[in-house]
Amino acid sequence: MKPLSIKEGKHFIEDIPLSDLVDKFGTPIIVYSKSQIIENIEKFRKAFSIFSDHEAHYAVKANYNPNILEILKQNGIGADAANPNEAKLAVQIGFDKKMITVTPNNLTRDELNFLVKEKFIVNFDDEIQYSLVENKVDLFSIRINPGIGKGEFKGITTGGKNSKFGTSPDKAKLAYEKAKKDGVERFGIHMHTGSNVLDPQFFKESSLAFFKISKIISKEVGIRFEYLDIGGGYGVPYQPYVEDLDIDRVAQNIKSNLMLPEINESLGSFKLITEPGRFMVANSAVILSKVTNVKKTDRNFIGTNLSFNTMIRHALYGAKHHFEIMDKLSGKYKKFIITGQACENTDRLGENIPLIEPRLDDVLITYTAGAYITSMSSNYNLLGRPMEILVDGSKVKIIRKPDDLPSILGPFLT
Ligand SMILES: Cc1ncc(COP(=O)(O)O)c(C=O)c1O
Repeated sequence: MKPLSIKEGKHFIEDIPLSDLVDKFGTPIIVYSKSQIIENIEKFRKAFSIFSDHEAHYAVKANYNPNILEILKQNGIGADAANPNEAKLAVQIGFDKKMITVTPNNLTRDELNFLVKEKFIVNFDDEIQYSLVENKVDLFSIRINPGIGKGEFKGITTGGKNSKFGTSPDKAKLAYEKAKKDGVERFGIHMHTGSNVLDPQFFKESSLAFFKISKIISKEVGIRFEYLDIGGGYGVPYQPYVEDLDIDRVAQNIKSNLMLPEINESLGSFKLITEPGRFMVANSAVILSKVTNVKKTDRNFIGTNLSFNTMIRHALYGAKHHFEIMDKLSGKYKKFIITGQACENTDRLGENIPLIEPRLDDVLITYTAGAYITSMSSNYNLLGRPMEILVDGSKVKIIRKPDDLPSILGPFLT
């Protein structure tokens, strides 16, 4: 399973056996394949090349390691930031400001006015956030809730009912009228309805709803949208038996909506912006951790030195990652609960996980660890976050030092 291959009976990442990395750097470590990230970028870009004007803005929240951002920037991708810090980092990395969107929610007056003063393009979460802005914005864009949403879990569904994000089409229309009255002449419009969607049909439905809303607003307010930003959500398989999202089909589905005469005629020419996060990086990394316990109580537990402070996705949403034991390619499978070192019974990386029974000191591979892992991590229990390593062919670069006690305690004052 990506990004690994098996050669001579061993797990490899690019040209390097995983066991060499464990011998050299210990565990836990997060290991990325650069070529996998580039493959993902190319696949995504090729799919959307059927649009005459398309820009992919990588959602920085998925993984903000500056080295990862650098790869995306060098390969022509823009950035979508969730707040001033992510926006500042994107600028620091060297993303062209014209290719940075900021899609925040619940910012303070100061944070919003900072973004406007620094001339960032902001997709305002709603009309109330826009009312906090003191100076005229260069371009006004608002996040629409198109009334439908889909995500792998409830916790990552951001459109439809019970969403804290966005505003209704009616309220958005009033906000565009207000912006026009405020003298704004440039406009965009945004939606993002959920994450890890593997069904190409959903993108057809959500973009059609969005295009219809955009068309009505554009016509009734008398404005032209420079861009239509349809957000992220492009899914990746977390299990070997699940198929990749057909990203070509996703792009074709979106395009087919634009061919409809009632949509096509009224929107005129615009830039299509997408905000892929997970799609670009999730399958590029694995976590290598040590098996520190194999224990039978009423259930079969495996203990490891990877905890939910680093990987919260299972505890938070019930996310199901794939696991294997490094270099153990045959044997009898048994089902395990995989747990870490944190003092919480919810510190589980997965349950009901089929594994060839490990021995103490074996190495556990956690797949699909490139997105929403380190960027959602913490230091609960003073547990450190792992070292991160980027592999490029046979080259190895440390791209994050592991936490240690002084680095964790650094911000505390006594
Ligand atoms: C506004 C916005 N855009 C893009 C994304 C990226 O989503 P994904 O990683 O599913 O592509 C998110 C993620 O939550 C988001 O909130």
